This record gives sequence, structure tokens and C-alpha cells, in this order.
Amino acid sequence: MKVDASALPPEVVEAIQNGQVDLNDPQTTLVLLQLGAVVGVKGQVSQNNDGSLNLDRMGVTCALCHSTVDNSFAPGIGNRLDGYPNRDLNPGLIISLSPALTQEQKDVYASWGPGMYDPRYNHDGLNNPVVIPPAYGLYGLPKAIFTGDGDVEHEPEGPVAYWNRYVAVTQMHGHGYFKDDRINWEVDYRENDDLVTDKLAALQAYQFSIDAPAGPEGTYNADKAAQGKILFNNKAQCATCHSGPRFTDVTEGGFLHPQSASVAVDKDYVNRSATKKWRVSPLKGIWFHPPYFHDGSAATLSDVVERYNSQLNLGLTADEKANLTEYLKSL
Ligand code: HEC
Ligand code: HEC
Repeated sequence: MKVDASALPPEVVEAIQNGQVDLNDPQTTLVLLQLGAVVGVKGQVSQNNDGSLNLDRMGVTCALCHSTVDNSFAPGIGNRLDGYPNRDLNPGLIISLSPALTQEQKDVYASWGPGMYDPRYNHDGLNNPVVIPPAYGLYGLPKAIFTGDGDVEHEPEGPVAYWNRYVAVTQMHGHGYFKDDRINWEVDYRENDDLVTDKLAALQAYQFSIDAPAGPEGTYNADKAAQGKILFNNKAQCATCHSGPRFTDVTEGGFLHPQSASVAVDKDYVNRSATKKWRVSPLKGIWFHPPYFHDGSAATLSDVVERYNSQLNLGLTADEKANLTEYLKSL
């Protein structure tokens, strides 16, 4: 969990700085929840007769997975960064603690590890988690998610709104309705109300307003990156798929690629989707969120380059690989 430092009053900041706060104490967590400082978690907290705090109700928001903090105060505590994936979070482990699950389900959830989640497991029962992707840099993409399921044909509000509805209803059990015949799924949690549909426009507009952060100056070698850019567009063939200002050809009429186009280790995830195809991933802000590919099978950007070099027989020299890596860090 991440803590939003801007929600902390000065006396709490001082107490943390003086080491007077035990951040592992659940009572501390309840204080932070009362202050609205735990990113992605909402809780209703009351006081017991002995003065201790009690958690009456709780829920999670999109920010749990799709926001983090800049660690400016301490590791895990800082200014909130919406749209940046929280790759430290282990959602599967948290869900595995639920008493509502069978032992078999608990084992599956607990196996995913940090930064991973499977948004289809509760539908098809298959176990194949994907990395939590950024929710920044999405403006201008006509299709959402790794497999491009979200588009205006299937959600008039927009491509990202398609997936927002999917998550809100099928994963977070929000009062609302989701239906997609392509994956043979209809979920109706409306209880004489729909708390999802009227939020979709504003939510998508907020996501579209979040730009991907360019690689910070000083974290890459600018001269090598300039050489790498030439490779990206020529010898390394990256721009044949990662084309245009968003580094993806999905901007060319919503184009998607067949299963074989991914150089990830896992190729099966795509079969569980509505399209059975891949969207070429946009690459802006890529420096921020290792590991790479939908299955997280490349630990670093240099591993990404190695993978492409061997799988596509690009014949890049060591220098060329290094330059291409520097370019990717700068995007
Ligand atoms: C438990 C973690 C988790 C939570 C909570 C969560 N997501 Fe996600 N989100 C994911 C994962 C994993 C994917 C990748 C799914 C895929 O591509 O198949 C994803 C994908 C997305 C994408 C697609 C980004 C792209 O590249 O097109 C958007 C947008 C998104 N989520 C928005 C939301 C919204 C809005 C909410 C709250 C209603 C939410 N998410 C809650 C884990 C989460
Ligand atoms: C045939 C089309 C194609 C070519 C050529 C291609 N890519 Fe990709 N790229 C994809 C697809 C599809 C994905 C998503 C695959 C996945 O996640 O499994 C992807 C994903 C990536 C990712 C991971 C993005 C993320 O969010 O994790 C990086 C980085 C990347 N490509 C860089 C490159 C570089 C560098 C080159 C050139 C050496 C290249 N790509 C060439 C289609 C291509």
C-alpha cells in the first residue's frame, strides 16, 4: 500500500519523522484510512470504548493498482502519482486472504506475485496473470488493454470506458452492468441502481488527461539515445509496429496483430480475450514500469532489446543494443 503524504497533517508527519509511528501496526493503518491517506483504499473507521479504532467498512478504488507515490517522504510515502502502475502491490496475495474462497482459489491468487493480476480468472477459471499496466498515455488510442478489447463499437463512451466498466462491474463488484458476447459474459450487479454508467465519461476524461512521463534527463545518455532512435526506425524494425507519435500502429484505424506478434514468453493470454489479438503497446513512459510485456517476462529494457534481437534475428551489435536501450529509456 502507498501513503499520500499530502493527506497527512503536520503532526502526523512529524511523528513519522521522529520514529514515533509504528507503520506495521494495524491501528496506524486505520488512522491513515481515517485521513484518506492510503492510496486506493477507502475505509469507514469508528472508535471503540477503549479508544482503539475499528474498521466498519472498506472498499478499494482504481488507484490501488493504477496510482503510486513518488517516495519523496520515505519509501512508499510521498506525492500521489495517478495513472502510474503500482508494481509493488500484491493484489493476489491480498485477495487470497478472503474467507469466501476455496483453498484451491486461495492458492491461485497467492501465486501471482507483486505487480500482477488476472482480470479474467473469475470468469474463465484459467490462471495466467498479467502485469498491472499504466493508465497514463492512453489518449488517442482507439483500443484499450493489451488485447484491444475496448473500443467504441463495444462501449459508446469510448475504448477506455469499455474496460473501466469491465473492471468496475466484473472485478470490483460495483453496482452496474457489463455484457460482451465476444467473451460470452453478462454480469448484472444493478440493485435497482447503476452506479457505474454515469461515472464513465468523467473517469475516461481524467485518464485521457494523464500524459505519459518522458524519461527524466540524466537517467539516459542522450547521444546514445539519438543513435538508438535511428536504429529503432531502421535496422531494428521497431517502428514497423511501434509507429507514429504514440509508438503503436493501433492508431492506424485500430489495427491489431496476431498471437505470434508478441515476443513475450506467454502467448496464451490473448486467447482468453475478446479479440484474440494483440495491441502493439504504446511506449511513452516505458522507463517507469519494468518488468515488460504483458507477462512481465523481460525484467529490463535491455532484456527487451535482447529478446527482439534474438527472436527477430536483427543482428544488432553490442553497441547498437546499448544505444537502442538508451533510446527506450528516453521515451
Ligand atoms: C487489482 C488491480 C487492478 C485494479 C483495482 C484496477 N485495475 Fe485496471 N488493470 C489491471 C490489469 C492487470 C490490467 C491489464 C488487463 C489487460 O490488458 O488484459 C488493467 C488495465 C487497465 C486499463 C487499460 C490500459 C491500457 O493500456 O489500455 C485501464 C484503462 C484500467 N485498467 C483502468 C482501471 C480502472 C478505471 C479501474 C477502477 C474501476 C481499474 N483499472 C482497477 C489491474 C487493475
Ligand atoms: C510485429 C510487431 C512488433 C515489432 C516489430 C516490435 N514490437 Fe514491440 N511490441 C509488439 C506487441 C504486440 C507488444 C505487446 C506484447 C506483449 O505484451 O506480450 C509489444 C511490446 C513491446 C514492449 C513492452 C511494452 C510494455 O508496456 O511492457 C516494448 C518495450 C517493445 N515492444 C519494444 C520494441 C522494440 C524496441 C522493438 C524493436 C526492436 C519492437 N518492440 C518491435 C509488437 C512489435
